[in-house]
Amino acid sequence: MQWGDEGKGKITDYLAEGADMVVRYQGGANAGHTIKVGDEVIALHLLPSGMVRPGVISVIGNGVVIDPETMKKEIEGLVRTGRSVENLRISDRANVVLPYHKVLDGAEERARGKKGVGTTGRGIGPCYSDKMSRSGILMGDLLDEEYLRDRIETILPMKKRLINSLGEEFDINPEELVKELLEYGRIYRDKIIDTSILINDYIKKGENILFEGAQGTMLDIDNGTYPYVTSSNCTSAAICSGAGVPPSAIEQVVGVAKAYTTRVGAGPFPTELHNEMGKILLHQGEEFGTTTGRERRCGWLDLVVLRHATRLNGPTSLAITKLDVLNDIDSIKVCVAYDIDGERVEHFPGSAPKMESAKPIYEELKGWKSWSEDTVELCQQGIEAMPREMRDYISYIEKDLGVKADIISVGKERDETIDLRPDRWSA
Ligand code: GDP
Ligand code: IMO
Ligand code: MG
Repeated sequence: MQWGDEGKGKITDYLAEGADMVVRYQGGANAGHTIKVGDEVIALHLLPSGMVRPGVISVIGNGVVIDPETMKKEIEGLVRTGRSVENLRISDRANVVLPYHKVLDGAEERARGKKGVGTTGRGIGPCYSDKMSRSGILMGDLLDEEYLRDRIETILPMKKRLINSLGEEFDINPEELVKELLEYGRIYRDKIIDTSILINDYIKKGENILFEGAQGTMLDIDNGTYPYVTSSNCTSAAICSGAGVPPSAIEQVVGVAKAYTTRVGAGPFPTELHNEMGKILLHQGEEFGTTTGRERRCGWLDLVVLRHATRLNGPTSLAITKLDVLNDIDSIKVCVAYDIDGERVEHFPGSAPKMESAKPIYEELKGWKSWSEDTVELCQQGIEAMPREMRDYISYIEKDLGVKADIISVGKERDETIDLRPDRWSA
């Protein structure tokens, strides 16, 4: 719902208990989804969080950009933990992140200088650019030597010229690249299929399918803080194009929202805190990037952002995460509007200079610090035992957005989750 890193991995893993299939539909290895299972901490970048649940079919849809090298490492990591990747399926239409995309990502960032986006360096922007300009290589192409060679021979010289024009050296032998890609094709041959057919067959059979988003609404290429965004659509609308399913198939949308706000990388962030409170959120929330290890910028919850995200994603319910991080705070601020050039604004503006000049207007809510009991334990006893101030905080958000929160997360563990869903899949 905000700038990502809000616990999508945890919530997806939690909901995956009752799911038959988990599908990633956009983004790439820029994502970092952390799941805690007992003593194990599993960080996934490309593989769907369903991989952690035995028996669940995990699908990487056509809208994802796949770095085959990262995927190989991630698969090897999961196998080392004793997990099977038998149930992984990869779309033949997904674009491949190639070595020159990563080189270009770095070169473009260096060329932007101080105005850099602060990308993850995973080649995401250049890969999606190639997809749009029809110079991409698809996962299915890795299975057709002749066609692949032809594509690489056409595309590679353009890429070399582009990289050189940015003042960087780049030389890669087309034949070696073809060889490397064919090897990945050989490795993944059994998994590369038309995943849209598979997913739609599951839909017809009435199976439970969970679509796992990456990044966050404010990083969406169309609706985020452009140009400080990622290169895909991160809103729920992307499920359809990125997984090959019709809008009518989507029954529920769960908006995962952290109880405060963070952002990694550059760009506008109206409620960012440059003070002691920002440091408290950073350390209590362990806000260090899963993918790049960077410190996440921290700030108060921003209802202007959440209203924007609610309008765009149409969540049928919310999953509010990391409420425990606010345990030791006396008074919690919530941004209800911005002051932009002396005017009160309640909707997120479209232009970067306006976003930069937005000053948050806050309301203050009482925290639950005064409770001497372990609030996580209280929450685990159910909503009635939850500190009243925590319930008030949740109700305040629900009321403003007009959406109910039916999953509340107060810790990393699966059992640190309060589930108020009336129709739990797993029941
Ligand atoms: P994602 O990108 O949205 O999947 O989120 P990340 O995994 O990048 O970041 C969320 C981090 O917060 C992870 O380290 C999770 O283990 C952790 N986390 C998730 N939910 C909670 C929670 O309710 N409380 C606390 N303290 N940590 C949480
Ligand atoms: P998850 O799924 C937070 C940010 C980067 C950068 C911008 C563009 O874990 O929530 P890119 O490499 O995508 O071209 O970088 O987007 N970014 C994320 N921030 N969480 C993510 O994923 C992100 N993926 C990309 O920091 O500002
Ligand atoms: Mg993350």
